[in-house]
Amino acid sequence: MKLTILGIETSCDETGAAIYQEGRGIISSTLFSQTEMHKRFGGVVPEIASRSQLDKIDHIVSLALEQAGLTLQDINCIAVTNKPGLPGSLLVGVCFAKAMAYALKIPIIGINHLEGHAFSACIENDIPFPFLCITASGGHTSLYLVHDYGKYTVLGQTLDDAAGEAFDKIAKFIGYPYPGGPIIEKLAAQVDFKDFFKYPRNNPATLDFSFSGLKTAVLYDLVKKDAFDMQTKKFLKPDDELLKQQVCSSLLVCISDVFKKKLERAIKTYPQAKAVAFVGGVACNKYIRSKLKGLCDSYSLPLFIPSPSYCTDNGAMIAYVGYYKAKRGEFSDLDLDILK
Ligand code: KG4
Ligand code: ZN
Repeated sequence: MKLTILGIETSCDETGAAIYQEGRGIISSTLFSQTEMHKRFGGVVPEIASRSQLDKIDHIVSLALEQAGLTLQDINCIAVTNKPGLPGSLLVGVCFAKAMAYALKIPIIGINHLEGHAFSACIENDIPFPFLCITASGGHTSLYLVHDYGKYTVLGQTLDDAAGEAFDKIAKFIGYPYPGGPIIEKLAAQVDFKDFFKYPRNNPATLDFSFSGLKTAVLYDLVKKDAFDMQTKKFLKPDDELLKQQVCSSLLVCISDVFKKKLERAIKTYPQAKAVAFVGGVACNKYIRSKLKGLCDSYSLPLFIPSPSYCTDNGAMIAYVGYYKAKRGEFSDLDLDILK
């Protein structure tokens, strides 16, 4: 019987389910995104997120089966994200998956969400090992050297705020709803991605990432420009379109500069790398993609970026990692817990 894996992703504000079948690859992938529900709060509200996961999971899993033309009886393994993430959201996916595994008498595999992202570019591409991987999402910014399926070394990671978080929080400062990344990209394009305010860059001497200083620098610069009131936490120039565009453009150029510098350092330090992957929600950003492409071209390294639906959180990357773990017999027990 062909291995047929159901992947479930509920680590944050997306409910994702997908099916990977041996010999066919990903045969269905469904998603419910809660973005609209969190928009007005400027970020993800954990309590709302977990309640919505509970509300949607049954439907999203049923839809994945329907799209694949399969029934529950065709599934012979379940892969589920069990870390890292919001505890309430993770619990919904893990409890659902454990109940299914118990009822169907099939094995379960707990998947690290970041491993899911790291291998998401492999779903659609045959990437040569070893490769360097930059993961940039709302909660994490990391650099890996990926040796093989499931085997990777962490070269650098988030020390405080992640890149996506910086986009989200700074967008909020200037009056835009969550998620900040897409609107920042749109506004930056209107002033040709110029570096107006020269915000501070990360320390280039390490491969770790830190964006909390950048967030503070942008805030203080807005205060200096009489555009932000620290007492009321209000943006004072909502009608100044040019200022908003210049903030977004300077921010995007700054973050892409940091990525370029860290990646270049990694390329020089790990010359054995045969390719580069750029993954996670921030990898949807066309400006950063083009800058990283330019850098990779100059080192004759191919750059692989997943389709946007595999950049942001999704069940397909979880089913994919589940597949190679199942092939190796790396199953979890039914007492699988979150965050462990
Ligand atoms: O991977 P993801 O869906 O969720 C996490 O695991 O966190 O990433 C979400 C993040 C958000 O911070 C969002 O602002 C960012 O990805 N993002 C973008 C773009 N689209 C989404 N950042 C920059 N440019 C974009 N076009
Ligand atoms: Zn993610």
